[in-house]
Amino acid sequence: MQDFATLPSKKGVYLDHNATTPLSVEVAEKVPELMMAWGNPSSIHQFGRGPKAVMREARKKLSQGLGCRDLELVFTSGGSESNTSVIRSVFDQQQLKPVADQRIRMISSSVEHPAVQQAMADLVPHGLDWVQVPVSRGGQLDLEFLEKALAEAPTALVSVMFANNETGSILPVEAACRLAHEYGALFHSDMVQALGKVPVNLADLGFDFASFSAHKFYALKGCGLLFSRTGMQLDSLIKGGRQERGRRAGTENALAIAAFGVMAGHLHEVSERAETMRTLRDFMEQQMVQRIPEITFNGHEVERLPNCTSAIIPGVDGETLLMNLDMKGFAVSTGAACSSGSPEPSPTLLAMSLSREEAQSSLRVGLGWSTTHAQVEQFVEALEKTVVRLRSFQHGENAYGEKAK
Ligand SMILES: Cc1ncc(COP(=O)(O)O)c(C=O)c1O
Repeated sequence: MQDFATLPSKKGVYLDHNATTPLSVEVAEKVPELMMAWGNPSSIHQFGRGPKAVMREARKKLSQGLGCRDLELVFTSGGSESNTSVIRSVFDQQQLKPVADQRIRMISSSVEHPAVQQAMADLVPHGLDWVQVPVSRGGQLDLEFLEKALAEAPTALVSVMFANNETGSILPVEAACRLAHEYGALFHSDMVQALGKVPVNLADLGFDFASFSAHKFYALKGCGLLFSRTGMQLDSLIKGGRQERGRRAGTENALAIAAFGVMAGHLHEVSERAETMRTLRDFMEQQMVQRIPEITFNGHEVERLPNCTSAIIPGVDGETLLMNLDMKGFAVSTGAACSSGSPEPSPTLLAMSLSREEAQSSLRVGLGWSTTHAQVEQFVEALEKTVVRLRSFQHGENAYGEKAK
């Protein structure tokens, strides 16, 4: 398989592919041509026909690559909008039912992305009975708890992410979906982190709804997908026109949609590229274990995304480590990019029963399709040196390794 080219960066080595992916060179080279279809896709005249055709083509390629029907895909602005749309739509439809005086139950995992957590939390004052299913120390969902919660009261929706963005642990979504359906609930999965890391076949998975984001898959930002299985009702979160068959109002971002379509042409490569990333990630972890005493990995014992490492490095503050590595030209993260800047430890890591200290000593490394062996070697080298230096400060030594008097 050919190397996958992404736009080069003068800033250093990018190892934060769960936050976003660099733009594919193929996409970047096609953008000027795709921009020419600047008309409004809803216009009937020739200026509208160009972008409409571009969108039709992208939808076709994406549906083929994801194993669903063209019209089961709704273009949105990204994963956050897709997640919120499903939750709101299911809630609103339940409210319209004659038993609307009862509380409406929805169940999620305790480690969902804030776009799911906040969408549910916002509905609690409006009558949502929100149950969060705990996860194990490894990040694995407690399926017994889920079944008990389903048996306790009628449930409208179960939402469980496919894979966690901070630890990479893959949740048992197929089992969760089967349980949800057994008890008459709809099932949604936030699959934003799955794209490009594991092969996805929506027909086999049997979910009712699923969310995706283009910027996690080497395409442009501000574009996502909402899979809504045939027969599902989906009300538009945004009010306005009848775009996307009334399921998402607003003039479509035809450029970003077309770019997403270009990347859809690479979906058949996912298995092979995932294996390459897994080999590289496993090599990186071996090196880390050999060179950094006391390092451990979050979610190590459960199924994990092949590109992701979430490490606990005792005696080192994750944020300080990140900044030091950044100065050396390596981009990694302590957790989710959307919660960076918060002084609080990651809620996801706390939900996995890590102590505050462990959560604050965590580092996330996310490899991508264009990451090289040499980059990983350079990174581990820099990590080892930085950890040794930061740990020596902790033990009262100065920058020259001398003990403070
Ligand atoms: C698991 C998960 N869900 C949702 C999102 C949000 O996607 P977007 O940035 O496209 O709104 C992210 C992005 O970080 C994510 O990792």
